[in-house]
Amino acid sequence: MSEKVALVTGAARGIGLATTQLFIEHGWRVAMVDRDGDALSDASTGLNKVSPFEYDVSIPSQVDAMVDSVRQTFGRIDAVVNNAGVADFGPIEDTGFDRWREVMATNLDGVFLVSQACISALRDTRGALVNIASISGLRASTLRVAYGTSKAAVIQLTKQQAAELGEYGIRANCVCPGPVRTKLAMAVHSPEIIASYHDAIPLNRYGTEREIAEVITFLCSDKASYVTGQIIASDGGFESTGVGLPALRT
Ligand SMILES: NC(=O)c1ccc[n+]([C@@H]2O[C@H](COP(=O)([O-])OP(=O)(O)OC[C@H]3O[C@@H](n4cnc5c(N)ncnc54)[C@H](O)[C@@H]3O)[C@@H](O)[C@H]2O)c1
Repeated sequence: MSEKVALVTGAARGIGLATTQLFIEHGWRVAMVDRDGDALSDASTGLNKVSPFEYDVSIPSQVDAMVDSVRQTFGRIDAVVNNAGVADFGPIEDTGFDRWREVMATNLDGVFLVSQACISALRDTRGALVNIASISGLRASTLRVAYGTSKAAVIQLTKQQAAELGEYGIRANCVCPGPVRTKLAMAVHSPEIIASYHDAIPLNRYGTEREIAEVITFLCSDKASYVTGQIIASDGGFESTGVGLPALRT
């Protein structure tokens, strides 16, 4: 039972499921955490070396119970991928406090709570935290007052974690995906938004779940053993570019 164990939140679909599958290919076991019990059951059935944990990362009591249960099941935690997230796009004037809180509860509170509850286990393994933010946390845009702010906060939270937890040998890094055609993105990306993303991205396309998972699993691996406190965009070049890209394409 010495195989490494990853705890992946939001593992029932999208980037979290692709990350789970890649960990398995690398010989890890995976605690798949998600609040959508049906999707989690569908996703975990047939996968080897995983166990499903139906919990909500935004509720402190559920987070504590989840981490206890994962430790009882697997005996160790080597990496935590804080991937569970929700998106709700709307103008500032229409973003009531309930919508704001709903986004913050999962995207920010969830990352804080799950990370904190895993510190003891990660100290034992000198393990790794990888938090999933977004290009929306690196650069502002319209309609993302809650989502973008939550993701910018996750970037800072990652740096705080790296600063404090380094002395325990725990590394903390952050991945900022560009657009990926998951259920989350397709719920908020209109045809106009999709066209704008294509225009603004040097690689001229959306990314895939697998491309994001590759960066996440690298940061969890020993290959990244001297990398901590870093914010890495996997975004087709979106973050590095400025004004005029579409007009200046040849
Ligand atoms: N898809 C994109 O274009 C994109 C871009 C940038 C960042 N991201 C980020 O990547 C992460 C994964 O997104 P995705 O596109 O794969 O989304 P997705 O909607 O396909 O999957 C998210 C999963 O998280 C689960 N989840 C949501 N809230 C939860 C909670 N409180 N507790 C437990 N589980 C919860 C959902 O049930 C779902 O299974 C998110 O943090 C998202 O903000 C996505």
